[in-house]
This record gives sequence, C-alpha cells and structure tokens, in this order.
Amino acid sequence: MTKDIIILILLLIILLLTYFINKKKIKRLIYKNKIKKINLSELDQIFNEKLISENLKGPKEDAIVKSFIISPQNKVVGITSDYEAWIISVLSKKSNNIFEFGVGSGKTTYLMALNSNKDTKITCLTLGPDQVKNLEKESTDNKISFRNIINESIYQKFLFSGTDVENKINIIFENSINFDESKHLNKFDLIFIDGGHTYSVVKNDTEKSFKMINKNGIILWHDYVPGKQSSKDVVNYLNEISKEKNILNIRHTSLCVFRNSD
Ligand SMILES: C[S@@+](CC[C@H](N)C(=O)[O-])C[C@H]1O[C@@H](n2cnc3c(N)ncnc32)[C@H](O)[C@@H]1O
Repeated sequence: MTKDIIILILLLIILLLTYFINKKKIKRLIYKNKIKKINLSELDQIFNEKLISENLKGPKEDAIVKSFIISPQNKVVGITSDYEAWIISVLSKKSNNIFEFGVGSGKTTYLMALNSNKDTKITCLTLGPDQVKNLEKESTDNKISFRNIINESIYQKFLFSGTDVENKINIIFENSINFDESKHLNKFDLIFIDGGHTYSVVKNDTEKSFKMINKNGIILWHDYVPGKQSSKDVVNYLNEISKEKNILNIRHTSLCVFRNSD
C-alpha cells in the first residue's frame, strides 16, 4: 500500500515537473492561435530580404534602422521585443503621421521618432502616476491586466526626453477612454495599440483607431499571446473582431496587424 502511494506521488511529481518545464509549449497547444499568421515579407515589400549566399539572407538597405538597447538593469516592464521594435521602426520610415496608445518608457516612441522622416508627427496617449490614482476596473476586465496598467503608468519623463527628436512627439497624459478621436479622423498612417490591456481599454482603443486610420494606413496591436494571463483580454477581443475584420498575426511576434487597404 505504502509502495503504491510512493509511486503515485513520484508520478505526480514527474507530471508536475514536465508541466512546468514545458509550460509554454503545453499552453500553446491548449490555447490555439485563432488569428491567421503572415510572414513579415507579406506585410510590406520593405521587408523582402536580399540573398547574401546560399544559406544566408539579410535586410535590404530600406530595412536598416537606428536602434538602441535598454539594459536589463533598468527593469523596464511591458516593452516590445527587439524584433518587434525593428518591425515598427521600419514601418515608421514610411509614416508621416503616427499615433501610439501607451508610451510606457517610450522605447517604441523613441524608435519611431529616430527612424521616421524629419516632418513626421507622433501623437501619443499615456497615463502617469497622477492619472491612475482614481482608475476604476470594469467588471469584464482581467485583474492582472488592470494591475499592470497601474504598474506601467510610472513615467513622466521618457527615453526620448531631452533628445533632438523630442519635438516630433506630442505626449498627451489622458485616459484613452476619454479621448476624443473626432478631431483625428482618417489621419494616421500607422497606429500602435499598446495601452491598457484590459478588455474595455483595448476595445475602446481599437474602435477609435478604426476611425483614425487613413485609407492606406495600418494598425498594429501588441501582446497577442494566447495562453498568457496578462494578454487574455487582448487575445479574446482580437479573436472576436477578427471574424469581421481582416486581422493577421505577424509570425514570430505578438504583433497583430490590420491594413486598411486590404
Ligand atoms: C505596455 S506600456 C507601453 C509600452 C510602449 N508602447 C513601448 O513599446 O515601449 C503600457 C502603457 O499604456 C498606458 N495606458 C494604460 N491604460 C491606458 C489608458 N486607458 N489610456 C492611456 N494610456 C494607457 C500606461 O500608462 C503605459 O504607459
């Protein structure tokens, strides 16, 4: 009897260990990506690579960008990966009017400013510590995503503050729920949605973006990661609207994209 119990406990420990070691893979199997994936080269010709040798391809001149790395000691939360940041930097090169929901440390904003042409205007909505004091969670909102809004709304100065591209950027400290989009209709070439990841905020930001994007513009969403708790509302909302809108997931990224010209 005792021997059976020991074997059972050992089996349970092995099962638990296997789960924790392969957590990501198992989650990926359970939570299927419901949005169609595309390769980067299908998104825009600018990403077509040049053949360097039989077994090596690399970016063409147009896809070379100015970049920087934030050191891990900074412990900046909620940032784009370097691959995602590069994609957004390249797209910024051909965007004259850019809008960003959620600035965080300003990593992506700074990259967009560094890589766009000198007349490009970048408008951003974000929250600082003062704006989150009385923030209220909607009943449909994921608790972790709501907590992240508070944890990420800590900056009043950004990575681009004091740099010579700062003049391209207009930061508005305002809750996007209260933002009046009617003054910005059909205006933007590129909109990056990376503000609050709660259902109510991502729905609000998306609906406003569909009105603010111009006819050849594109909308990008960050953090489409099925199975990740803090991305739950982003995933559910995008899965829902992808039944009607042609939203695609860029392969090897958490970025989803909508092209108004499709
Ligand atoms: C993940 S961070 C953004 C990271 C940034 N896009 C980047 O790539 O480095 C999320 C940001 O969204 C902002 N935010 C969250 N909810 C918001 C809301 N309702 N309105 C405006 N900004 C919001 C937070 O203040 C925070 O700065």
